[in-house]
Amino acid sequence: MNNIPDQRHEERAQKFKQLTECSRCKPMGRLLRKFWQPVALAESVPVSGAIPLTIMGEELTLYRGDSGALHLVGGRCAHRRTLLHTGWVVGEEIRCIYHGWQFDAKGACVRRPAEANTGMPRTQIAAYPVKEYLGLVFAYLGEGEPPEFDLPRKLLLEGEGTLVANGRERWDNNWFQQVENSLDAVHVSFVHMALTVGPFGAAVTGAIPELSYDETSSGIRQTALRSATNVRVSDWTFPNNNHVTVPGLSPEDPWIDVFVWMIPNDEENTTRFMIYGQQAGATEESRKRFQDYFAKYGKYDPAEHHDELFASHVWDNPEDTFVGLTAAQDYLSIRGQARITAREDEILGRSDLGIVTLRKLFFRELELQEAGQPTKSWRSSTDSVHLPKQPGQESTA
Ligand code: FES
Ligand SMILES: [Fe+2]
Repeated sequence: MNNIPDQRHEERAQKFKQLTECSRCKPMGRLLRKFWQPVALAESVPVSGAIPLTIMGEELTLYRGDSGALHLVGGRCAHRRTLLHTGWVVGEEIRCIYHGWQFDAKGACVRRPAEANTGMPRTQIAAYPVKEYLGLVFAYLGEGEPPEFDLPRKLLLEGEGTLVANGRERWDNNWFQQVENSLDAVHVSFVHMALTVGPFGAAVTGAIPELSYDETSSGIRQTALRSATNVRVSDWTFPNNNHVTVPGLSPEDPWIDVFVWMIPNDEENTTRFMIYGQQAGATEESRKRFQDYFAKYGKYDPAEHHDELFASHVWDNPEDTFVGLTAAQDYLSIRGQARITAREDEILGRSDLGIVTLRKLFFRELELQEAGQPTKSWRSSTDSVHLPKQPGQESTA
């Protein structure tokens, strides 16, 4: 029996597996750690409080000192490995619940109360730099000095008068298929027609787009041309952020900029951190609609509704046909691929140009990294993304 096809299949499986990995000892884990990554909503950590995180397979403790400053250290105590977030924040340090060992913000053990007469051995847990930005907490989990905080910046949202809201969803599947969805403009014509057609699906329409992809200083610009007045452009930032725009909450509202990061918690779980922005200049009614809506519906998480979504294929909340519906539609298709999709079994076509472009880009960067050569020096894009307004509002200019 000729086993060459099986061997090729296995080689393909092994190659694609690299895209899904995230631990520090794997090439992709090292590549992801070269970037500032979002790890939490800033609001999720109270002053003098601590929360546990798992990011890229690594257990962490995020805490706010009494000063309000954020600190990120290892998840477990160096003594007998209990979780540190269950202990106490003391000033800018954290004390373990079990026997009171205390660690400073650099991860150094500074107190061992029950070992008073035995001196202080040099004991260290991990510690990483953090930065708050537009409602999110970013961390640098890589080696050496962190890069400049440039790539995560969204200049479009930094202007005075811009309204910003945050979201967080915790999906139970691999991060890379979520990233791939960002470069799959065709899915909008189908996925966002499912369950019920919300304003986003209605604006983009079910027309099949002509696609083009251009590598930029920050990632990939995707253009999906559906008609002369329906050109959807999005900017994807290496390695795991996507910027799209979606209709406002009412026809007179400006379109909303959405930035989504997809950060692996481990290989089968991903947190999506969102920043929604309404640029300055909107009317008072529009601003209020934006704020009220996100206060009420901005934290919907489709993964919490997994069973009913997969069982019913029904969207039963007519009041929220924006964030919740769009997330549920994407979740059904991307989670429906399984927790880690079998890329070696796919059959790709011309409409998958974005997927192919994305994978090539990652393999290029991984190969450079593993060969000890410099990877691309990605820089934040200063371009803003322009998308068509809703049908009927389009300028003919
Ligand atoms: S386990 Fe933390 S002090 Fe003992
Ligand atoms: Fe989508």
